[in-house]
Amino acid sequence: MRDARFGLFVHWGLYSVAARHEWVKQRERLDDAAYQRYFEHFDPDRYDPRRWAELARQAGMRYAVLTTKHHEGFCLWDSALTDYKATNTPAGRDLVRPWVDAFRAEGLRVGFYHSLLDWHHPEFPVDGLHPQRDDEQAKIGAKDRDVARYADYLHGQVRELLTGYGPIDYLFFDFSYPGRTWGGKGRDDWRSAELLALVRSLQPDVVVNDRLDLDGDLEGDVLTPEQYQPAGPLAAGGRLWEACQTLNGSWGYDRDNLDWKSPGLLIRMLVDGVAKDGNLLLNVGPTGRGEFEPRAADTLLAIGRWMDQHGRSVYGAGPAPFTPPPDARYTQRGDRLFLHLFAWPFRHVHLPGLAGRVRFAQFLHDGSEVATEVVDPARKAQNTTMGGLGADVLTLILPVQRPDVAVPVVELFLEPER
Ligand code: GLC
Repeated sequence: MRDARFGLFVHWGLYSVAARHEWVKQRERLDDAAYQRYFEHFDPDRYDPRRWAELARQAGMRYAVLTTKHHEGFCLWDSALTDYKATNTPAGRDLVRPWVDAFRAEGLRVGFYHSLLDWHHPEFPVDGLHPQRDDEQAKIGAKDRDVARYADYLHGQVRELLTGYGPIDYLFFDFSYPGRTWGGKGRDDWRSAELLALVRSLQPDVVVNDRLDLDGDLEGDVLTPEQYQPAGPLAAGGRLWEACQTLNGSWGYDRDNLDWKSPGLLIRMLVDGVAKDGNLLLNVGPTGRGEFEPRAADTLLAIGRWMDQHGRSVYGAGPAPFTPPPDARYTQRGDRLFLHLFAWPFRHVHLPGLAGRVRFAQFLHDGSEVATEVVDPARKAQNTTMGGLGADVLTLILPVQRPDVAVPVVELFLEPER
């Protein structure tokens, strides 16, 4: 998973029909009766996961994670433990099976997102995050709910997902909130240690994220910062980190939300993460009819055009021991150091610590040579003659014209370590 660096997150459920954020039930304090119309109208007649998988591959993604159940409690697969599932809607079938098959067929690894919360389950106690949090009548009616019975259900469904679809590469639980609000839930409510043991026994190789509210060795294999870029490398002890990000701030399809990130910004976020030894899990919220909206597809294809030429500066790459110049990032893979220029400088970029360390430099997009020089530190600045810099500084000489790629990259071939 570390070498893959770039994956697709898919948030899809009844909220895709409401089309105003995946937390719509909670935000609008909708009860089950009011939310039922989305169940009755969930009819993804244009669902073709092969098209999703193709777009993900074309974007340069190497794995994908699907929401099997989100906080609303609706299940995309034919769970034997509930009727609140896709097979009972106009969709009329298991939507997870074709997804798994399509993504595997495109050569991507597959993962499942599974919500620990469930705003539909009759034994899930109402708390400060629940849609009925302010409904006194509902709270009275729910006072005898037994979270242990809910945890049995949770464990049972995880067992179904880990025994019904072959090897699963990644399991993304979401989320624990002990102490965050009244009735906040965590490890004891989910019986997290037992749940993790179940997962490890069913699928020993699966990567599990860090949201079960467990500590130490049990904390999870991957840390999952969300909707922000870490300022530096996050994970300690060799653990991987993966930032999960949206295209426009919402995970679920949000029709009227126009706060879209540009492909250039998303590529810089990916590179910034790799430079800090992290992955990017980029989300798409398909529509209620089961499609990636054009803007989402176009964004993936634009990222794919850059990844097509620049993939080797991302896959299997990681942090470098050199300090990059301003507005730039380094990624390194073996003897290749990649300088990603987030801002295009005028004619020169100076690289501290690289004098005498580079045997060749080229633009990655077209393989064209980039001239280099080590300016004599004693040289005096005079008219058009640039003055001396530090003895360890390698200077690249760049064209005035910025290459027409989202992020220009100079590939530096390092001399073998002496
Ligand atoms: C947050 C959001 C949730 C989303 C998840 C993805 O927990 O609240 O809706 O699924 O992040 O990481």
